[in-house]
Amino acid sequence: MRRKIVAGNWKMNKTFQEAEDLLDELAGRLNEEQEDQDVEVIVCPPYLYVEMAHDLCSDEDDATQVYYSVGVQDVSEHDKGAHTGEVSAAMLSSMDVEYCIVGHSERRRYFGETDAQVARKVEQLLQNEITPIVCCGEQAEDREAGKQFEVIGRQLKEGLFNLKPLDFSRLIIAYEPVWAIGTGKTATPEQAQEIHAWIRNQIQEQYGKEIARVIPILYGGSCNAKTAKDLFAQPDIDGGLIGGASLNADDFIAIVNSFDK
Ligand code: 13P
Repeated sequence: MRRKIVAGNWKMNKTFQEAEDLLDELAGRLNEEQEDQDVEVIVCPPYLYVEMAHDLCSDEDDATQVYYSVGVQDVSEHDKGAHTGEVSAAMLSSMDVEYCIVGHSERRRYFGETDAQVARKVEQLLQNEITPIVCCGEQAEDREAGKQFEVIGRQLKEGLFNLKPLDFSRLIIAYEPVWAIGTGKTATPEQAQEIHAWIRNQIQEQYGKEIARVIPILYGGSCNAKTAKDLFAQPDIDGGLIGGASLNADDFIAIVNSFDK
Protein backbone atom coordinates (compact mmCIF):
# COMPACT_ATOMS: atom_id res chain seq x y z
CA MET A 1 0.00 0.00 0.00
CA ARG A 2 1.20 3.55 -0.73
CA ARG A 3 1.91 6.17 1.92
CA LYS A 4 -1.00 8.49 2.76
CA ILE A 5 0.11 12.09 3.15
CA VAL A 6 -1.48 15.44 3.99
CA ALA A 7 0.83 18.45 3.71
CA GLY A 8 -0.08 22.02 4.61
CA ASN A 9 1.45 24.79 2.51
CA TRP A 10 0.98 27.92 4.61
CA LYS A 11 2.36 30.15 1.83
CA MET A 12 3.05 33.71 3.12
CA ASN A 13 0.63 33.68 6.03
CA LYS A 14 0.72 34.05 9.85
CA THR A 15 2.67 36.32 12.16
CA PHE A 16 4.93 34.71 14.76
CA GLN A 17 2.21 34.59 17.43
CA GLU A 18 -0.42 33.28 15.02
CA ALA A 19 1.99 30.63 13.81
CA GLU A 20 2.78 29.53 17.35
CA ASP A 21 -0.93 29.31 18.22
CA LEU A 22 -1.72 27.19 15.17
CA LEU A 23 1.28 24.86 15.58
CA ASP A 24 0.46 24.39 19.23
CA GLU A 25 -3.17 23.62 18.47
CA LEU A 26 -2.24 21.26 15.63
CA ALA A 27 0.22 19.31 17.78
CA GLY A 28 -2.28 18.90 20.64
CA ARG A 29 -5.23 18.02 18.45
CA LEU A 30 -3.39 15.73 16.04
CA ASN A 31 -2.24 13.84 19.12
CA GLU A 32 -5.83 13.37 20.24
CA GLU A 33 -7.89 13.49 17.06
CA GLN A 34 -5.84 11.92 14.25
CA GLU A 35 -7.87 8.82 13.48
CA ASP A 36 -5.44 6.96 11.21
CA GLN A 37 -1.86 7.04 12.47
CA ASP A 38 -0.67 5.84 9.06
CA VAL A 39 -1.39 9.28 7.58
CA GLU A 40 1.81 11.34 7.45
CA VAL A 41 1.10 14.96 8.32
CA ILE A 42 3.53 17.60 7.05
CA VAL A 43 3.43 21.31 7.91
CA CYS A 44 5.27 23.76 5.63
CA PRO A 45 5.33 27.19 7.33
CA PRO A 46 7.45 30.16 6.21
CA TYR A 47 11.20 29.62 6.85
CA LEU A 48 11.14 31.95 9.89
CA TYR A 49 9.01 29.53 11.86
CA VAL A 50 10.87 26.31 11.08
CA GLU A 51 12.64 26.10 14.42
CA MET A 52 9.45 26.74 16.33
CA ALA A 53 7.57 24.22 14.19
CA HIS A 54 10.25 21.68 14.95
CA ASP A 55 10.15 22.39 18.70
CA LEU A 56 6.39 21.82 18.79
CA CYS A 57 6.14 18.84 16.41
CA SER A 58 6.68 16.07 18.96
CA ASP A 59 6.01 15.14 22.57
CA GLU A 60 8.28 17.09 24.93
CA ASP A 61 9.11 13.99 26.95
CA ASP A 62 9.13 11.46 24.14
CA ALA A 63 10.60 12.72 20.88
CA THR A 64 9.52 9.51 19.10
CA GLN A 65 5.90 10.72 19.43
CA VAL A 66 5.77 12.96 16.38
CA TYR A 67 2.52 14.81 15.57
CA TYR A 68 3.63 16.30 12.26
CA SER A 69 6.80 16.60 10.16
CA VAL A 70 8.33 19.91 9.21
CA GLY A 71 8.71 21.05 5.61
CA VAL A 72 9.35 24.32 3.80
CA GLN A 73 8.06 25.94 0.62
CA ASP A 74 11.17 26.45 -1.50
CA VAL A 75 14.95 26.05 -1.60
CA SER A 76 17.84 27.61 -3.50
CA GLU A 77 19.12 25.83 -6.58
CA HIS A 78 22.67 26.72 -5.42
CA ASP A 79 24.65 25.07 -2.67
CA LYS A 80 26.03 28.27 -1.03
CA GLY A 81 27.56 31.67 -1.64
CA ALA A 82 26.51 35.07 -2.96
CA HIS A 83 22.76 34.50 -3.39
CA THR A 84 21.17 37.19 -1.25
CA GLY A 85 17.91 36.15 0.34
CA GLU A 86 18.20 32.48 -0.58
CA VAL A 87 18.19 29.46 1.73
CA SER A 88 20.21 26.36 0.86
CA ALA A 89 19.29 22.71 1.23
CA ALA A 90 22.24 22.22 3.59
CA MET A 91 20.86 24.98 5.86
CA LEU A 92 17.45 23.33 5.86
CA SER A 93 18.96 19.98 6.64
CA SER A 94 20.91 21.50 9.55
CA MET A 95 17.55 22.69 10.95
CA ASP A 96 16.08 19.16 10.66
CA VAL A 97 13.72 20.06 7.82
CA GLU A 98 12.49 16.83 6.23
CA TYR A 99 10.40 17.98 3.26
CA CYS A 100 10.49 20.83 0.75
CA ILE A 101 7.94 21.92 -1.86
CA VAL A 102 9.53 22.58 -5.26
CA GLY A 103 8.13 24.02 -8.47
CA HIS A 104 4.93 25.39 -6.96
CA SER A 105 2.91 27.16 -9.65
CA GLU A 106 3.23 30.45 -7.73
CA ARG A 107 7.04 30.15 -7.93
CA ARG A 108 6.83 29.24 -11.62
CA ARG A 109 4.37 32.03 -12.43
CA TYR A 110 5.56 34.95 -10.24
CA PHE A 111 9.27 34.14 -9.98
CA GLY A 112 9.81 32.59 -13.40
CA GLU A 113 10.99 29.27 -12.00
CA THR A 114 11.82 26.92 -14.87
CA ASP A 115 11.84 23.13 -15.16
CA ALA A 116 15.65 23.28 -15.25
CA GLN A 117 15.66 25.12 -11.90
CA VAL A 118 13.21 22.60 -10.48
CA ALA A 119 15.65 19.86 -11.52
CA ARG A 120 18.56 21.61 -9.75
CA LYS A 121 16.53 22.23 -6.59
CA VAL A 122 15.47 18.59 -6.46
CA GLU A 123 19.10 17.57 -6.81
CA GLN A 124 20.16 19.89 -3.95
CA LEU A 125 17.44 18.49 -1.70
CA LEU A 126 18.21 14.85 -2.41
CA GLN A 127 21.91 15.43 -1.76
CA ASN A 128 20.90 16.78 1.66
CA GLU A 129 18.46 13.98 2.50
CA ILE A 130 15.36 16.20 2.25
CA THR A 131 12.30 14.81 0.47
CA PRO A 132 11.14 17.03 -2.41
CA ILE A 133 7.41 17.51 -2.89
CA VAL A 134 7.42 18.43 -6.56
CA CYS A 135 4.43 20.31 -7.98
CA CYS A 136 3.12 20.07 -11.51
CA GLY A 137 -0.10 21.24 -13.11
CA GLU A 138 -1.68 23.06 -15.99
CA GLN A 139 -3.10 26.59 -16.27
CA ALA A 140 -6.78 27.16 -17.14
CA GLU A 141 -5.92 28.05 -20.73
CA ASP A 142 -3.87 24.85 -21.13
CA ARG A 143 -6.87 22.79 -20.07
CA GLU A 144 -9.23 24.77 -22.32
CA ALA A 145 -6.89 24.02 -25.22
CA GLY A 146 -6.69 20.33 -24.23
CA LYS A 147 -2.98 20.71 -23.49
CA GLN A 148 -2.91 19.52 -19.87
CA PHE A 149 -1.08 16.28 -20.64
CA GLU A 150 1.47 18.06 -22.81
CA VAL A 151 2.22 20.65 -20.09
CA ILE A 152 2.45 18.17 -17.22
CA GLY A 153 4.43 15.75 -19.39
CA ARG A 154 7.00 18.47 -20.07
CA GLN A 155 7.24 19.42 -16.39
CA LEU A 156 7.88 15.79 -15.46
CA LYS A 157 10.31 15.10 -18.27
CA GLU A 158 12.41 18.24 -17.91
CA GLY A 159 12.17 18.65 -14.14
CA LEU A 160 12.41 15.06 -12.93
CA PHE A 161 13.04 12.34 -15.48
CA ASN A 162 16.77 13.02 -15.48
CA LEU A 163 16.96 11.41 -12.02
CA LYS A 164 18.33 7.94 -11.44
CA PRO A 165 15.60 5.46 -10.42
CA LEU A 166 16.70 5.29 -6.78
CA ASP A 167 16.60 9.09 -6.47
CA PHE A 168 13.27 9.35 -8.26
CA SER A 169 11.78 6.82 -5.87
CA ARG A 170 12.39 9.27 -2.98
CA LEU A 171 10.06 11.94 -4.40
CA ILE A 172 6.52 12.97 -3.61
CA ILE A 173 4.62 14.43 -6.57
CA ALA A 174 1.80 16.96 -6.18
CA TYR A 175 -0.68 17.60 -8.98
CA GLU A 176 -1.99 21.14 -8.59
CA PRO A 177 -4.16 22.41 -11.45
CA VAL A 178 -3.39 26.13 -11.43
CA TRP A 179 -7.03 27.02 -12.14
CA ALA A 180 -8.04 25.34 -8.88
CA ILE A 181 -5.49 27.02 -6.60
CA GLY A 182 -7.03 29.55 -4.22
CA THR A 183 -10.10 29.82 -6.45
CA GLY A 184 -12.50 27.55 -4.58
CA LYS A 185 -12.81 25.58 -7.86
CA THR A 186 -11.66 22.08 -6.93
CA ALA A 187 -11.03 19.61 -9.73
CA THR A 188 -13.70 16.92 -9.62
CA PRO A 189 -12.49 13.61 -8.20
CA GLU A 190 -12.76 12.18 -11.73
CA GLN A 191 -10.72 15.00 -13.30
CA ALA A 192 -8.05 14.66 -10.63
CA GLN A 193 -7.98 10.85 -10.83
CA GLU A 194 -7.58 11.01 -14.61
CA ILE A 195 -4.45 13.14 -14.28
CA HIS A 196 -3.02 11.20 -11.32
CA ALA A 197 -3.40 7.91 -13.19
CA TRP A 198 -1.79 9.46 -16.26
CA ILE A 199 1.16 10.76 -14.19
CA ARG A 200 1.60 7.33 -12.64
CA ASN A 201 1.58 5.82 -16.11
CA GLN A 202 4.27 8.26 -17.28
CA ILE A 203 6.36 7.27 -14.26
CA GLN A 204 5.83 3.62 -15.11
CA GLU A 205 7.00 4.14 -18.67
CA GLN A 206 10.12 5.92 -17.46
CA TYR A 207 11.01 3.99 -14.30
CA GLY A 208 8.96 0.77 -14.35
CA LYS A 209 6.03 -0.67 -12.49
CA GLU A 210 7.51 -0.94 -9.00
CA ILE A 211 8.55 2.71 -8.70
CA ALA A 212 5.26 3.89 -10.24
CA ARG A 213 3.39 1.79 -7.70
CA VAL A 214 5.04 3.35 -4.63
CA ILE A 215 5.36 7.06 -5.51
CA PRO A 216 2.81 9.15 -3.58
CA ILE A 217 0.89 11.60 -5.78
CA LEU A 218 -0.95 14.31 -3.84
CA TYR A 219 -3.75 16.54 -5.07
CA GLY A 220 -3.69 20.30 -4.43
CA GLY A 221 -6.06 23.07 -5.45
CA SER A 222 -8.95 24.18 -3.21
CA CYS A 223 -8.91 20.81 -1.47
CA ASN A 224 -10.89 21.32 1.74
CA ALA A 225 -12.74 19.50 4.49
CA LYS A 226 -15.73 19.00 2.17
CA THR A 227 -13.93 17.82 -0.97
CA ALA A 228 -11.04 15.81 0.50
CA LYS A 229 -12.98 12.61 1.20
CA ASP A 230 -14.08 12.00 -2.40
CA LEU A 231 -10.67 13.03 -3.76
CA PHE A 232 -8.75 10.75 -1.38
CA ALA A 233 -11.06 7.83 -2.23
CA GLN A 234 -9.68 7.81 -5.80
CA PRO A 235 -7.23 4.97 -6.45
CA ASP A 236 -4.31 7.17 -7.58
CA ILE A 237 -4.77 10.07 -5.14
CA ASP A 238 -2.62 9.51 -2.07
CA GLY A 239 -3.48 12.64 -0.11
CA GLY A 240 -3.35 16.40 -0.46
CA LEU A 241 -1.17 19.47 -0.59
CA ILE A 242 -3.40 21.97 1.15
CA GLY A 243 -3.17 25.76 0.95
CA GLY A 244 -5.93 27.90 2.49
CA ALA A 245 -7.52 25.10 4.51
CA SER A 246 -4.19 24.34 6.23
CA LEU A 247 -4.34 27.71 8.01
CA ASN A 248 -7.13 26.58 10.30
CA ALA A 249 -6.77 23.61 12.67
CA ASP A 250 -10.42 22.45 12.35
CA ASP A 251 -10.22 22.29 8.55
CA PHE A 252 -6.73 20.80 8.39
CA ILE A 253 -7.47 18.04 10.90
CA ALA A 254 -10.75 17.22 9.14
CA ILE A 255 -8.72 16.78 5.93
CA VAL A 256 -6.18 14.55 7.72
CA ASN A 257 -9.16 12.41 8.82
CA SER A 258 -10.70 12.21 5.33
CA PHE A 259 -9.15 8.92 4.17
CA ASP A 260 -11.41 5.88 3.88
CA LYS A 261 -11.31 3.85 7.06
P1 13P B 1 -5.39 26.22 -2.00
O1 13P B 1 -5.67 24.97 -1.20
O2 13P B 1 -5.49 27.47 -1.18
O3 13P B 1 -6.17 26.26 -3.26
O4 13P B 1 -3.85 26.14 -2.43
C1 13P B 1 -3.36 24.95 -2.96
C2 13P B 1 -1.90 25.05 -3.04
O5 13P B 1 -1.36 25.85 -3.79
C3 13P B 1 -1.11 24.19 -2.14
O6 13P B 1 0.23 24.22 -2.47
